Amino acid sequence: MPLQPSPDPAAPTPSPVATRTTELAAALGPLARDFALDWVSECASTNTALVDAPPADDGRIHVLIADRQRAGRGRRGRQWLSWEGASLTFSALWRFSPGAPAPAGLSLVAGLALARALEQLGVHGVQLKWPNDVLVHGDKLAGILIDLLPSRGRPPAAVIGIGLNLRLPEGHGIENQTGVTDLAQALESAPPAPAAVLAVILTEMHRLLDTYAAGGFPALRGAWQQRNAFADLPVRIVSDADVRTGICAGVDDDGALLLRTDTGIERVLAGDVSLRPLTGGAA
Ligand code: BTN
Repeated sequence: MPLQPSPDPAAPTPSPVATRTTELAAALGPLARDFALDWVSECASTNTALVDAPPADDGRIHVLIADRQRAGRGRRGRQWLSWEGASLTFSALWRFSPGAPAPAGLSLVAGLALARALEQLGVHGVQLKWPNDVLVHGDKLAGILIDLLPSRGRPPAAVIGIGLNLRLPEGHGIENQTGVTDLAQALESAPPAPAAVLAVILTEMHRLLDTYAAGGFPALRGAWQQRNAFADLPVRIVSDADVRTGICAGVDDDGALLLRTDTGIERVLAGDVSLRPLTGGAA
């Protein structure tokens, strides 16, 4: 047997984040070359970091992962709570190809990729709540925040931020319209290591973003609708502008929510959707 070189005692021990980056690259396999991976122990918000200082375009998808966020952001100005070792918090900077049309439906594609990755990890009952919350049996497992970068004459780019609960601490204090859950509960067992979970998510994001780049949201609309948590159910949509009620009639080719009301189908572009008790009538 050939002799193995003994480890150099003077060599510095890799930091935990360097070790996790190595594990992630190994789990991604040949796909790793399409990503620029930066795993840090702490930052304010991975989305804010990529929006404030977007890395130069080198053709790769830049991913920033943080063990801990000091000021995690959620949708509609809310905060996103996470805990080191208990949550996966990361953001990916995705650039549209030159000449691409307006990025319709991107946030739904990100949710779909996350849902499919969780299914591959063995989670049952994954559903999507428009626009992109990931639920398991009605409880929120993960959230997505998309920030569009000012294009300044370049093709548009988006920061896709994902927060996934791995194992929430007791008394976590997260307030939510729905309940919350975590991967440990969804799998009924200890979740895989964060790097392994992330590799599955990034692989699925890579695959679906390729499909989206080629065919737009219409290519993925059916897969999204299959997982629509509120399909054909009575819903209430609260936005900054108003409160609307109706029956959830799916999404259109731009990713807008379709609401069936007494006066016809309405397109909804923003808001928080929740289930509402049926009191009779179409809406
Ligand atoms: C939501 O459901 O309101 C969206 C939550 C998005 C949280 C993630 S965690 C990583 C990234 N950085 C942030 O500050 N927010 C997103």
